[in-house]
Amino acid sequence: MADTCVDTLRTAHPNQTVNVEIERGMMANGDPHLLTVVLDNLLGNAWKYSGKRAQARIEVGRLTQNGRVTYFVRDNGAGFDMTYAHKLFGVFQRLHGTSEFPGTGIGLATVQRIIRRHGGQVWAEGTVGQGATFYFTL
Ligand SMILES: Nc1ncnc2c1ncn2[C@@H]1O[C@H](COP(=O)(O)OP(=O)(O)O)[C@@H](O)[C@H]1O
Ligand SMILES: [Mg+2]
Repeated sequence: MADTCVDTLRTAHPNQTVNVEIERGMMANGDPHLLTVVLDNLLGNAWKYSGKRAQARIEVGRLTQNGRVTYFVRDNGAGFDMTYAHKLFGVFQRLHGTSEFPGTGIGLATVQRIIRRHGGQVWAEGTVGQGATFYFTL
C-alpha cells in the first residue's frame, strides 16, 4: 500500500528526489480504502514538508509500544513546534504558511477520523527544522 502511494507521489513530483525506506512485510487489519487515504495523507505531507531538503528522507515502519503495534511515517523535513502539536489534527489548522507550503489543513483531520473509526489513535512528534514523525495504531 505504501509502495503504491510512493509511486504515485514520485510520478506527481518527478523533480523531487526523495529517499524512501518502507519496512517489508507490514500488515494491518482495516478498511483498505480508508487506510489508503491515511497513507496518502501522511506520505503526501512527508513528501511536501521534506520537499525543500537537499536529501529528503522518508521512513515508514512499525514498532511495538505497550504491546500494541504502532505504525509510523517519519520525514526529515521542516518539522513543527511541539507547542502546537494539539492543533495539527483540527480542521483547517495549519502550522505552516500557504506561501511556504501549500495546503488546506483538512488532511490530518481526515486521518484522525479514520484512525478513530478503526479504534486507534494518531499522534505526532516534531522538531522545527529537523522533521516530523506521525504515529498511529489501529
Ligand atoms: N510531515 C509534516 N512535517 C511538518 N509539519 C506537518 C507535517 N504534516 C503535517 N504538518 C503540519 O500539520 C498541518 C496540518 O496538516 P494537513 O491537515 O495535512 O494540512 P495541509 O497538508 O493542507 O497543510 C500542516 O499545515 C503542517 O503545518
Ligand atoms: Mg496534508
